[in-house]
Amino acid sequence: MKLNNNLSKEDQMVEKLAGKFNRMIEMLRSMMEFVELSDDGIKTKIKRKCDKFFRKMTFKGEALAYNDVRLRTCHSEILPGDVSLKMRFSRNVTLNIPIVSSPMRDVTESAMAIAMAKLGGLGIIHKNLSPEDQAAEVRKVKRCLSAFLTEPVCIRPDDTVEKVLKMREKENLKFWSFPVIDESGKLIGVATRKYFDFCQNNQQSIGKIISPEVVSAPEGIKIAEAYKIMMDRGIRILPVLSGTGELKGTYTLADVKRIIQNDKADYNVGSDGSLFVGAAINAGMSDLEIRLSLLHQAKVDVVVIDSAHGWSEGIIKALKYCKKTYPKIDAVAGNISEAGAAIDLVRAGADGIRIGQGPGSICTTRMIAGIGTPQVTAVYSCAKALRDADVPSCADGGIELSGDITIALAAGAANVMLGKLLAGTTESPGEIIRSPEGAAYKNYRGEGSLGAMIENRACRERYGQADNAKDKLVPEGVESTVDYKGDVGVIIYQLLGGLRSGMGYLGAKDIPTLQEKADFYQMSSAGLKESHPHGLQTIKKAPNYNI
Ligand code: IMP
Repeated sequence: MKLNNNLSKEDQMVEKLAGKFNRMIEMLRSMMEFVELSDDGIKTKIKRKCDKFFRKMTFKGEALAYNDVRLRTCHSEILPGDVSLKMRFSRNVTLNIPIVSSPMRDVTESAMAIAMAKLGGLGIIHKNLSPEDQAAEVRKVKRCLSAFLTEPVCIRPDDTVEKVLKMREKENLKFWSFPVIDESGKLIGVATRKYFDFCQNNQQSIGKIISPEVVSAPEGIKIAEAYKIMMDRGIRILPVLSGTGELKGTYTLADVKRIIQNDKADYNVGSDGSLFVGAAINAGMSDLEIRLSLLHQAKVDVVVIDSAHGWSEGIIKALKYCKKTYPKIDAVAGNISEAGAAIDLVRAGADGIRIGQGPGSICTTRMIAGIGTPQVTAVYSCAKALRDADVPSCADGGIELSGDITIALAAGAANVMLGKLLAGTTESPGEIIRSPEGAAYKNYRGEGSLGAMIENRACRERYGQADNAKDKLVPEGVESTVDYKGDVGVIIYQLLGGLRSGMGYLGAKDIPTLQEKADFYQMSSAGLKESHPHGLQTIKKAPNYNI
């Protein structure tokens, strides 16, 4: 500070001290993000170890990506096999494993959503389908397992066996028991596998081959009673009837048994025993009203308002509409990368937040638009802003290896969303493509790629574009292919194995403890080079390392 020589020595001293105090006040102001005043004095708001690390980075104006950091190890008494991976996707949608499949055309329809929920995670059905088709995909997931089906697939007595077999194949139904009802919804019988197996003429009508004797139960029957009846009478499906004989739903033995015996504790199911499932929606009101209403009828558990810029008025308006119209359906909003955005979306009613602007493998947003925060910093800032709000946040995009999942969760995310790593599996939509050399692969394209935008209004809307003329579109993603990888369960197994291992290194018995204990190092480029296999002639393919 330059002192004024016309002042007395004492005044010069005062001026000097005032300058120092000003600097101290500035420092105190910036520290307020990390401390709070209470009746007992000053309490530190540095609740987690990593707060200090990120505070330093914030002061330097640096934002970090997955490859910029690694976690410090801690003394541990925890074995990887003993850790709990339970978290939530949204206020009311639980996860037994913290992995969610992305709502992309090449990633999640019902087959992926069923597989993910059975593995303990969650699938979000993409929105490039008509509202009717998307609701049908949701229904397939909800029906796949539910112990009590309120809308079982029914057939009519005059349907031929051939018609039912064709319908079963077309809709990819895995079960063989169908209630047979008349026009007024009254139950006439149940067509089970034995009738199809022993039928000698597929032109026969169902009504002619089924037995008129049916075991049924009255409305309101509890699952334990249903189980007893089914076991005592040796039946796989129990129709539940109203007082006047109309079919109200069915219990299915396999699902009832699973719930009673809890033999598949990892399945991610709601209180009614059906698999949890989500669906993506656009903010555009014309589509939103009908889509939401059909998804509601299909009993979707959570909707994801899907946008490249979640911190915008259109998304906030759509979110408020969702929560006002269907308060029982959780609504997750995004995508964002700033703390202020997280706070605004939660204030507007969000039950979960999706973080990620630009980290996706197929994404070009950061290069085309020049915006976005590297993902670890984005996850930390948004999740930190939500610590007191009890709203989970999802780290979406950019996960390359299982170690990135450990880092995303350690930085504060409740779960991660995957696109590329789940594309190219048996359960992802789309055909396996074979090259003349015999390589097998599947398409994986960005929702904001040129091809996706030309084909689909939902993709254009995600990026705020209306015109679908090729030369009028400004893509923010690319079209690509990925190797065919086999069943998704194999991929998830390896990813969870890596996560469990990371938690073991930190001595974290569960994810909240991981978040408490996590502290980071910034990695130099030499450190990154040292971290990958190096100095080798060849590297054999490993099941969890394919860079
Ligand atoms: P990945 O797991 O790295 O492949 O990232 C998947 C995520 O990228 C998705 O969940 C979306 O949030 C995001 N995304 C999908 N398509 C695009 C695109 O075309 N541009 C930018 N981001 C995209």
